[in-house]
Amino acid sequence: MVHTMRALAHDRHADLRLRCGLPADIAILLDLEGKAFTTDQLSRKSFRHFLDGPNAYLLVAELDGVLAGYVLVIFRPNSIMARLYSIAVFPEFTRRGIGQALLAAAEAHAQERGCHVMRLEVEINNASAIRIYEKSGYCRRGHAASYYDNGSDACRYEKSLVQAGSRTR
Ligand SMILES: CC(C)(COP(=O)(O)OP(=O)(O)OC[C@H]1O[C@@H](n2cnc3c(N)ncnc32)[C@H](O)[C@@H]1OP(=O)(O)O)[C@@H](O)C(=O)NCCC(=O)NCCS
Repeated sequence: MVHTMRALAHDRHADLRLRCGLPADIAILLDLEGKAFTTDQLSRKSFRHFLDGPNAYLLVAELDGVLAGYVLVIFRPNSIMARLYSIAVFPEFTRRGIGQALLAAAEAHAQERGCHVMRLEVEINNASAIRIYEKSGYCRRGHAASYYDNGSDACRYEKSLVQAGSRTR
């Protein structure tokens, strides 16, 4: 799947392209993990596993041909719940709408797979991520103590992917 957009807030001439991740992206994804996260970074083995498996969807964003970010969604067979497992944008590319574009594409894909709800966990002090989720319609649904490897807590969020007009009850 490839989407191309020309609607970035701070550089209206830049091309943002979203495409499925490939094994050849793993080296740069590992670099991004090191820059975006201080704990619970995904390993090479994890990226390989998610790229190979049928129950994961890894989408990368390229800005003018340079990998700028990714989103990873996990699915369970026969479940209407999708889980936003990770999302990250290189620090030099943040605040340009890339995170929002990745999130919207992840939600659209989950809907296409028949999921009704997207769930996620976010570190309790991660203000920028919490802001993007709340701005995108996610509601806080709980708290998980000592969720991350460094002992910090997580907030649980979820969003209904079902259009208001198409609910059956
Ligand atoms: C969270 C993250 C993915 C956001 O990516 P991004 O490309 O900067 O997001 P966007 O530019 O689409 O921002 C969308 C909105 O989120 C909010 N936001 C994003 N970064 C923010 C920040 N540093 N401070 C406050 N609000 C922020 C804003 O409301 C922003 O909209 P605006 O720029 O019009 O005000 C990025 O900051 C990141 O990679 N962080 C490190 C990894 C991480 O924490 N991932 C989440 C794990 S749960």
